[in-house]
Amino acid sequence: MHFSAQSSALLRSWGAQRWWLQGQPPQLAHLPSSVRSRLGGAQSRPIVDMSYSRHFLDFQGSSIPAFMKKLVVTKLSTNLREAVTLQRDVPVPLPEDGDLLVRNRFVGINASDINYSAGRYDPSVKPPFDIGFEGIGEVVALGLSASARFTVGQPVAYLRPGAFAEYTVVPSKEAIPVPSVKPEYLTLLVSGVTAYISLKELGELSEGKTVLVTAAAGGTGQFAVQLSKKAKCHVIGTCSSDEKYGFLKSIGCDRPINYKTEKLAAVLMKNYPKGVDVVYESVGGKMFDLAVNSLATKGRLIIIGLISGYQSHSGFQSGHLEMLPAKLLKKSASVQGFFLNHYFSEYQMALKHLIQMCENRELVCEVDFGDMSPEGKFTGLESIFRAIDYMYMGKNIGKIVVELPHSVNSKL
Ligand SMILES: NC(=O)c1ccc[n+]([C@@H]2O[C@H](COP(=O)([O-])OP(=O)(O)OC[C@H]3O[C@@H](n4cnc5c(N)ncnc54)[C@H](OP(=O)(O)O)[C@@H]3O)[C@@H](O)[C@H]2O)c1
Repeated sequence: MHFSAQSSALLRSWGAQRWWLQGQPPQLAHLPSSVRSRLGGAQSRPIVDMSYSRHFLDFQGSSIPAFMKKLVVTKLSTNLREAVTLQRDVPVPLPEDGDLLVRNRFVGINASDINYSAGRYDPSVKPPFDIGFEGIGEVVALGLSASARFTVGQPVAYLRPGAFAEYTVVPSKEAIPVPSVKPEYLTLLVSGVTAYISLKELGELSEGKTVLVTAAAGGTGQFAVQLSKKAKCHVIGTCSSDEKYGFLKSIGCDRPINYKTEKLAAVLMKNYPKGVDVVYESVGGKMFDLAVNSLATKGRLIIIGLISGYQSHSGFQSGHLEMLPAKLLKKSASVQGFFLNHYFSEYQMALKHLIQMCENRELVCEVDFGDMSPEGKFTGLESIFRAIDYMYMGKNIGKIVVELPHSVNSKL
């Protein structure tokens, strides 16, 4: 369904500085299959029996080995080295009728990889299980039904567990066609979309508001900064080094604060005596307490994450929560959580708009391959352990991405 020209014009006039409305009419999510089948009438047996179609696989000369490497969680722990085993002789999986086999070229590192390896996402799941939230690569084989929309050699991205592998089977319904296999697109799949949807749905951004972004130079923080600037807000960003400070300046952050060299609470109190209107908060613990204290009257704090506690047994650092109701009441302020999994109806629209902005160079999609890390660039599945360490040392600028070089010669 599309908005009428009249209603689109109205929306544009309301939101001249609302980046999520620019050229992006919201789209209805697909109807659920149960509804679609009802609309299609009574269930009937198809005239052509497709039950054998899973045997038709299109490889088109792709050179696919019989075995591959992948990371598997074999023990629940937040310590990836304890939790995860690199398996070297796993059979390359075969796609079913509606599936793609994707050769991963780049995979994204997320702070929550260690929550996943600790079983915090689904406590009922027992090891062994696959890990890695997101990947981008080429289709190297696909089932018959999947070939209606995809073809061998096509660049695709996806968001599903099991990306930390040389090859991943992806249901074609979940695969995201992308213009090319660029690591920049990987920065958008989780990190970019999280900033986009959370600020659009919960931020109530408008011209002149003050936005504080914590971990601002990181994977998702970089987008929260830039999208808030597009909404004509004044943006403050916390970071832990001079290099990150410089990066934040380069993407338009009005007031980066290196909390290793400046006293964050004092800077906020001195420079923003009325407080900040919106906080994009992903650190937790003391940073959360400080951010609550810095809220303006009617301020809003969006909880994106609690990274400072992920390595602990409980998963969070306790703060001074007993004071929270009184602090919020005094300022008519609010605190709200945001978890991307609950906003998938917005996903396609957000990603499409982000890719467009990235293509038009309206958005910096900073990738950190770990070139500045002690052992150099993150290449191969083995380097994922180092990449996680690098993130938890607070060293990354932008989104951490690991490159997986091809292990076989291929025509692709
Ligand atoms: N809610 C959702 O759906 C959703 C989706 C994606 C991500 N997230 C959350 O967003 C946050 C950022 O995730 P990301 O993957 O984009 O990571 P990231 O921001 O690329 O990297 C983490 C950064 O956090 C900062 N940090 C502050 N205190 C830290 C500590 N004690 N230990 C480690 N890092 C610390 C560091 O930056 P400085 O040193 O500069 O402070 C570090 O570079 C996480 O909390 C994550 O869970 C949430």
